Amino acid sequence: MAGRFPREWLDELRERADIVDVVSRYVHLTQKGGRYWGLCPFHGEKTASFSVNPQRQMYYCFGCHAGGSAINFVMEMEHLEFKEAVTLLAEQVHMDLPEMVGGGEDEATRTQKERLYEANRQCARFFHSQLWLKENGHILDYLHERGLTDHTIRAFGLGATPPQSDGATHALVEMGFTEEELVKAGISVKRENRVYDMFRNRAIFPIIDARDRVLGFGGRALGDAKPKYLNTGDTPIFNKRLGVFAANLLKKQHGLKRIVLTEGYMDVIALTQAGVSGVCATLGTALTIEQARLLKRFAPEIWVSYDGDSAGQHAILRALDIFEQEGIRARVLDFPAGMDPDEYVRKYNGIENLTPMDATAYRMKQEMGSHDLSEQEGRTAYAIACAKYLAKVREPVELENYVKQLMLMTGFSRDVLLAQIGRTELIQQDRRATYRHAARPLEEKNEGVDTETSAAEKQLLVLLAEGRANAETVSADDFISPERRSLAQKLLDGMTPGAILESIGDEDTRSRVANMLQRESGADEEQELRMVSDCLRVLNRKRIERQIATLTEQAAQLKGEDKRSMLLKIQELTKERQTAGRKE
Ligand code: UTP
Ligand code: MN
Repeated sequence: MAGRFPREWLDELRERADIVDVVSRYVHLTQKGGRYWGLCPFHGEKTASFSVNPQRQMYYCFGCHAGGSAINFVMEMEHLEFKEAVTLLAEQVHMDLPEMVGGGEDEATRTQKERLYEANRQCARFFHSQLWLKENGHILDYLHERGLTDHTIRAFGLGATPPQSDGATHALVEMGFTEEELVKAGISVKRENRVYDMFRNRAIFPIIDARDRVLGFGGRALGDAKPKYLNTGDTPIFNKRLGVFAANLLKKQHGLKRIVLTEGYMDVIALTQAGVSGVCATLGTALTIEQARLLKRFAPEIWVSYDGDSAGQHAILRALDIFEQEGIRARVLDFPAGMDPDEYVRKYNGIENLTPMDATAYRMKQEMGSHDLSEQEGRTAYAIACAKYLAKVREPVELENYVKQLMLMTGFSRDVLLAQIGRTELIQQDRRATYRHAARPLEEKNEGVDTETSAAEKQLLVLLAEGRANAETVSADDFISPERRSLAQKLLDGMTPGAILESIGDEDTRSRVANMLQRESGADEEQELRMVSDCLRVLNRKRIERQIATLTEQAAQLKGEDKRSMLLKIQELTKERQTAGRKE
């Protein structure tokens, strides 16, 4: 489904798929005032802090700050991408899917892909049926020896290919697939004009995506044959950098608190058999951004569970960087040296004894290997390296724990470490003056405007969202901060707050804006005009004050006539400011 949905069609969908109806399918809602309330489906809670506002077509949770439109809601609940969520909603409100605009694949490509999916599906069934044949008993034995039960083998649809056979190719040609299609799907290979099976004498692991389509296969050699795993290469329907192994099983598990991300097929299968939920693996590549984003749809946190060897440890650090870059919470299951999750779970019957480490703790632990802490020089370098990681830890209580640990390891005092980290505001008040540069970034994005301006702008936005202010009384240019100005423009253009939230990709930004747009002005009809004009007066005065400040700065650089005329301008503005400040 390439291309985009047409704008008007989406607008109609937004109108028809009322957010209260949509959310009610998942959450029991009770009406109170202008809003509906229920238990938040995104975090566990006992009292309702999840609100749905039909007028604004948005939801907002006061507990976890999740917020967005009906489409966002379905994306979150069903782990869907935008287009998939839209398709589902359209079905529910009985709207036909439109012609997509802007490019896309043609009918022929689509049909070809469908054929390849079907060939793979049939092939997986063929491999699976082979596993139970007497002549392939050695392959079934191999899987049993690795501790897999028949139940597990069926759940993952594992299969077998006998030695020296072109059985898959034959069986699929028999079913009506062309040799060309089989080569395209990576099931067969062509050499000197003859077509052979790609996989021989291997245990087969089908790779199935979240839509239950078989994308390709991994084939494990039974002994020490090389390569250990043979995988389907890139085909028109498979790119190992985009998916994960066992995505089909992830999709079926709801409310996962975390994903366990491993490196190998066998790790996924062994952990799952041991009762661990939410397990998947990358397909023999380093983690990609696409995979990170895919995983984020299934759970709010990832436990990176790679092999305990040095390659695994490097891969963990890289994966942590990628998750961090994508704003995804990640922790590490640190397996004992040399063990992979499969081996560990077979030895200890589970992973309950492993405590996931925070990314920072893991990085600090790894960093230790690069420094000689018995030398002052090494301790200093170690402190500097760790301070870089700790600068990212926002919660003071969490930071405190790490700092204590670092004090022990390096011998530096708390104050010095906090200064190195750049969090001098946490140093006790009386000593604070020594470190004046402490600037903790504001949680709230004020874009260089003061709190009075912010408050007025926020109030005005709420009045716009409530429909108490409109283009007759307010213009986007009344806003000073760029972000809020653009929000105001969108509201004035008639977008609902829900639709605005939907257009914000970054989650932190979305929840911050949702928090802003869910508020109530508390005004009744008599007060609303007064409130609007109060806000406008503040903003007008603030704008003049900013002008005065800029001009005053410029005047300081000027001399003679230029300076005099600048001062005159400032004088005029000052007068204007006085009038602006006065209440009508
Ligand atoms: P490992 O070598 O750690 O294998 O490779 P493993 O998962 O522990 O396998 P077993 O337990 O020996 O059977 C991890 C992953 O890297 C990919 C596979 O996806 C494998 O699961 N890989 C490995 C290959 O694609 N080809 C190879 O030859 C080896
Ligand atoms: Mn292994």
